[in-house]
Amino acid sequence: MSHLPADLPADFGAAFAKLSALTKLGVEDMKLMILLETAGDPLYARLADAVEPEEAKALLRQNGREETAHAHRLKRAIEILTGAPYEIPALEDNPYAKSPSMGTVTVEMLRGLVQAERGGDALYQTYAAGEENPDVAELLRQNGREETRHGERVEQVIALLDG
Ligand SMILES: [Fe+2]
Ligand SMILES: [Fe+2]
Repeated sequence: MSHLPADLPADFGAAFAKLSALTKLGVEDMKLMILLETAGDPLYARLADAVEPEEAKALLRQNGREETAHAHRLKRAIEILTGAPYEIPALEDNPYAKSPSMGTVTVEMLRGLVQAERGGDALYQTYAAGEENPDVAELLRQNGREETRHGERVEQVIALLDG
């Protein structure tokens, strides 16, 4: 089985738009979502590098690690649905993990991220509702719940930066 999805939209935004339009994830869609989730880890790491204090960095790095954990839940979902092992592509092979340098992190940028994380929860709950396999549905729900927690952590970061 190919590790990368059959259809690779041009960039992160296009890939996210494609997934946002769905109400149920097929296996190829899950492979695409894995690329977005694993791309989230280095993205959060770069955000963490760009902010102070250490507490804010730690919150953002924690979010990043959990994005990788989300990819691992999707890997398990693929394996449940296909009955075959699936290997998460390396970051070097991930076309969405090469985002440009961060520049200055603004509160507006972080507020946008809070909204994106909340939207991520809603999307995962929609996918879970459309999924017939109860184990796969639960994996999707868990990812969603953690996206809301990510949004809450980013709100804590905003409070730390404001303070
Ligand atoms: Fe995620
Ligand atoms: Fe997240």
